[in-house]
This record gives sequence, structure tokens and C-alpha cells, in this order.
Amino acid sequence: MSQTSARILLIGSNGQIGRELLRTLAPLGEIVATSRDNKAGLTIDLAKPDSLVQAFNEVKPVLVVNAAAYTAVDKAESEPDVAEAVNAIAPGIIGELATKQGAAVIHYSTDYVFDGASGFPYKEDDKTNPAGVYGRSKLQGEKALLDTADNALIFRTAWVYGQHGQNFLRTMLRLFAERDEVRVVDDQIGSPTWSRMIAETTAQVASQLKMNPAQFSEKRGIYHLTAAGQTSWFDFAQAILGNTESTCRLLPIPTTEYPTPAMRPAYSVLDNMKLHDLFGLALPDWRHSLQQCMDGS
Ligand SMILES: NC(=O)c1ccc[n+]([C@@H]2O[C@H](COP(=O)([O-])OP(=O)(O)OC[C@H]3O[C@@H](n4cnc5c(N)ncnc54)[C@H](OP(=O)(O)O)[C@@H]3O)[C@@H](O)[C@H]2O)c1
Repeated sequence: MSQTSARILLIGSNGQIGRELLRTLAPLGEIVATSRDNKAGLTIDLAKPDSLVQAFNEVKPVLVVNAAAYTAVDKAESEPDVAEAVNAIAPGIIGELATKQGAAVIHYSTDYVFDGASGFPYKEDDKTNPAGVYGRSKLQGEKALLDTADNALIFRTAWVYGQHGQNFLRTMLRLFAERDEVRVVDDQIGSPTWSRMIAETTAQVASQLKMNPAQFSEKRGIYHLTAAGQTSWFDFAQAILGNTESTCRLLPIPTTEYPTPAMRPAYSVLDNMKLHDLFGLALPDWRHSLQQCMDGS
């Protein structure tokens, strides 16, 4: 099949990763972008399975990329039903519909499926043990998708930031402009990952698999996809501050001084070797990506 004739159903095209995918997937086929508010043209609300059925019938995609999710980690603690509908149940419906139509699926999951008790980067088959509703719902979604789809790839990523949407980089830039002092936790360790890098890597993988569902089937499963290296939120904030003119003071604090409704893993670095070994992809260090993002390149 010619790569350019393939139809790609992109779910969640307004999100951080979704927006970047609009550009990176464009050379691979005709993207049919969807959002739940109809801004993208076609509406998919993952909490409404009928909208998925309708979109699949209309688009008949070769590849479905699901960049939508209920991502409000703290709010999920008080809205478990919505988080479950969107993150746990919908991926299974996507998997069923994709299998019926012979389409491949790319889906995203999270480092929050782990409890953070490890001192070593997590591998794909390490024991999961999510601490909150969001992580649990995402883990259920992984299982639901893999149970229903033969051609599905799941990219677990972490600490996503970029120039759009709600993320740590944008929050810090706002606070550095507004305040004299900002306190940031220094005892949670992870890998800040640029949304654009995730979208570029996604497109590289889809291209290597020639947009061919049979080739997706050979590589089906979970992959960790984060920037290389690790840091704390505090050091991440310092790196951001260093790229600004702000004179704001940064103070490290322990997680106990910044209580949130949902518990975060203390350590959630992911091991990206599987992606390297199976696709030959070496992911850039988080500092390199941050610099590129802040340079606006
Ligand atoms: N952000 C992170 O730090 C992070 C970390 C690890 C993994 N991930 C995973 O990466 C993926 C993408 O995350 P992101 O950061 O790009 O997310 P995001 O910026 O929060 O965007 C999520 C998108 O999902 C859409 N959405 C929410 N509920 C929906 C529903 N019921 N039906 C259809 N669309 C719905 C939102 O639509 P609206 O624009 O209408 O709200 C939004 O466009 C998700 O699977 C997430 O779990 C994210």
C-alpha cells in the first residue's frame, strides 16, 4: 500500500501530543483529525462509544492514533467513572473496532502505572502497581487494548511538556513572570519528555512499519518512550529558569510540603531500550529537547 493513500484517524488532535502528531504524521497519509468539541471537524468523545463507531465507519482508517485521554491526574480521584470510561474502557472499544476493520492502533500510556518504589529505570514488563485512579485507569486501558487488538502499539511516556496545553514548562514560565519565589518538589524523579519528540518518534515507528497493520502485528505490545536521562521537578524547573531572564528564586521542597489528591510515584524513570533494540531509535537527552523546545525550533 502506498503510504500517502493511508487514512489515519487521529483521536485527540487538540492535546499536547495530538497537535504535534498533526504535523509529524502528515507525510504518512491522510489525517482525519478528531476532537471531542468538533473543532477538528469530526467529533469523537471517548466517553461515548457511539461516536467511535460512527467515526470508524466513516473514516475506515488504516491506522488509528489515540492521543486523547482523561489526563487530569488529581481530578480523577473524584471523577473515577469518567476517567475509567475514557482511559480504561474506550481503548478496548478502539481495539475491537480496529480489529474488525483490520486497522493498526497506536495508543499512549503513562509512567504512573508504576508505584515508583524501584531505584532502576522501569522496563516494559516490570510489575505495575498504580497509586491512583488515573494510573489504574490507564493500566486497564493498556490491557483492554491489547486484549482486543492484534495490531496495537502502546507507548508509555512521562512528564510531557511542550509549547501548547497545560504542562509544567508553561506553568513554570508563568510563575517565573508573576512571582519572586517558586517552590518545587525535589524528591520525585522522572524524565521530562517533549511532546514533539514523542510525535516524531511515533511517526518514525509508523513509517518503519510501512503503515502496514501486518507489520504492526509483528511488533505489537508496550514500549517505553521518554527522553533519555533523569531529573527532579526542581532541577527541571532550574533548567527552565536558566533559559529565561527571570530573577525569580527557586526553592526545593519535599513532596510532603506539596500535598496533592493523587499520589505520584517518587521514581518513574522508564527504560527505553526496547524501542532502541526493535526500531533502532535512540531518544535524545531531556536537556537537549528542552533547549530545542525553548529555542522555539
Ligand atoms: N501529560 C503528561 O505528562 C503525560 C504523561 C504520561 C503519559 N501521558 C499520556 O499521553 C497521552 C497524551 O497526553 P497529553 O499530555 O497530550 O494530553 P492532553 O494535552 O491533556 O490532551 C488530552 C486530549 O484528550 C482529549 N480528551 C479528554 N477527554 C476526552 C474524551 N472524553 N473524548 C475525546 N477526547 C478527550 C482532550 O480534549 P479537550 O481538548 O477537549 O480537553 C485533549 O485534547 C495520554 O494518553 C496521556 O495519558 C501524558
